[in-house]
Amino acid sequence: FNSRLLDGIHLTITAGPTREAIDPVRYISNHSSGKMGYALASAAADAGARVSLISGPTNLACPERVKRIDVVSASDMHDAAMAEMGQCQVFIACAAVADYRPANCAEQKIKKTDDSMRIELVRNPDIVSAVASHPQRPFTVGFAAETQDLLRYAKDKLERKNLDMIVANDVANTSIGFNANDNAVTVLWPTGNQTIAQMGKRQLAAQLITLIAQRFLSAEN
Ligand code: C5P
Repeated sequence: FNSRLLDGIHLTITAGPTREAIDPVRYISNHSSGKMGYALASAAADAGARVSLISGPTNLACPERVKRIDVVSASDMHDAAMAEMGQCQVFIACAAVADYRPANCAEQKIKKTDDSMRIELVRNPDIVSAVASHPQRPFTVGFAAETQDLLRYAKDKLERKNLDMIVANDVANTSIGFNANDNAVTVLWPTGNQTIAQMGKRQLAAQLITLIAQRFLSAEN
C-alpha cells in the first residue's frame, strides 16, 4: 500500500444513512452503519489524501486526519456535497441516502387519533448524479447495493448516473454489506472490472482506495 499515492489530492466521501423527518420526534431511515465509508475515509487519509467525510448520523468516531461534516437529511447531504465541488478531485458516494422523504414535516408531534394514517413521500435528490453532472465534475465513484442481478444493475447505474466507477455489493448475503464487518465487491468501470474477495472492511477499503487512485491517476494523465 503506497502511503503517498493520493498526496495532496482532495477527496470527498459520503457515508452512513440519512434521516428524513416525519415530525419533531420521528423519522424514516435505514440500517446503514457508515462503516464502509469511514473505512474508506481512513484509508484515503493513509494514502496522503485530504479527506472530507460528509456523514449522516452514525455511532462511529471520526478517523484521524479526516474532516467530518455532519448532516442529517438527504437534502443536507446534497447541499454539503455541492459545497465541496470546485475543491474536490475525487468523490466517493458511499452513503445509503433515503430515496424518499415525507412531503411535509409536521410542526408538532403527530397524535395517534385515527386507526390508520398515510405519509406522502417525495423523491430525494440523487446526490451522486448531481455531482457527476456538475460543471466542476470530480472523478466520481458510486456504490450499488443489490439483492439480485448485481452486475447488471450495477452496470446500468454506472451508465445512468454517469459515474467513473461503481462498487457493486451483494446485500442479500448478510455476512457482507450493511452493518457487517466484512465485505466483498466487484468494481466496474467503463472499460473493465475487478472482483475483491470477502475480507474485513478496513482491508477492503485499502484495496478500493488503491484501485480508485490508479483509475483516477490514469484518467488524469
Ligand atoms: O440508485 P441507488 O440508490 O441504488 O444508487 C446507489 C448509489 O447512489 C450510491 O453511491 C449512493 O450513495 C448514491 N445515491 C446518492 N443519492 C441518492 C441515492 C443514491 O448519492 N439520493
